[in-house]
Amino acid sequence: MRKQIVAGNWKMNKTFQEADELINSILEYIKKDENTAEVVICPPSLYLELASDQANDTTLMIGAQNMSCNGFGAFTGEISAPMLASMGIDYCILGHSERRKYFNESHEMLAGKVEMALKHGIAPIFCCGEQLPERESGNHFNVVKEQIEKALFHLPESDFSKIVLAYEPVWAIGTGVTATSGQAQEMHLYIRNLIKDKYGDDVAQETSILYGGSCNAKNARELFSNPDVDGGLIGGASLKAEEFIKIVRAFD
Ligand code: PGA
Repeated sequence: MRKQIVAGNWKMNKTFQEADELINSILEYIKKDENTAEVVICPPSLYLELASDQANDTTLMIGAQNMSCNGFGAFTGEISAPMLASMGIDYCILGHSERRKYFNESHEMLAGKVEMALKHGIAPIFCCGEQLPERESGNHFNVVKEQIEKALFHLPESDFSKIVLAYEPVWAIGTGVTATSGQAQEMHLYIRNLIKDKYGDDVAQETSILYGGSCNAKNARELFSNPDVDGGLIGGASLKAEEFIKIVRAFD
């Protein structure tokens, strides 16, 4: 059975004190509940140590929001996979549309980041998704296919099987416009079939594919009830413990 995952992408939000409070509040719920889904938080890198310390001996998993495609060296301002690994970080979001757009992350660069993460035992949460004009022109399947093929399909099966995918239509991110349940399921099934064609049905069935884009406590249950939607990558709604935990409980 593939994993159900709810991951919070905090983006560039929260002061240190606020981060501390939010992690503590999330942990209070997590310790009380028997969660069906795996819960991941991805705070800004500055707070990863705090999160990792607090999550010690709990089921809460910690992810970074970005990392370099290089290991160590003269790359001012960057953080790398071996650094994250040395702090016990479990996941790293890669290929987020904001990184593609504002930081010009290309398919080739993302392929390098994915390899580097895997080499150091960090599981990529790899994001893909089309922009609004691409959907309107009916090109959304091709766009997602290209993103996945160019950054992931060079991997051997043993590496690919460690990846979590997140379908995040760019027009739904931070806009309050969620993909309909039908749109999400249609794309998730398409992605699963791409994986099946490349790596076979066993790998396809074991790969978790999360939905992201204005997913919140109100719409999570319906989105997650789709057979190919295995959880969510949550932005805005992950910044309040109560709302985030309602999303986690949408599986129960
Ligand atoms: P959102 O962001 O939930 O605020 O739309 C999701 C994401 O960017 O991962």
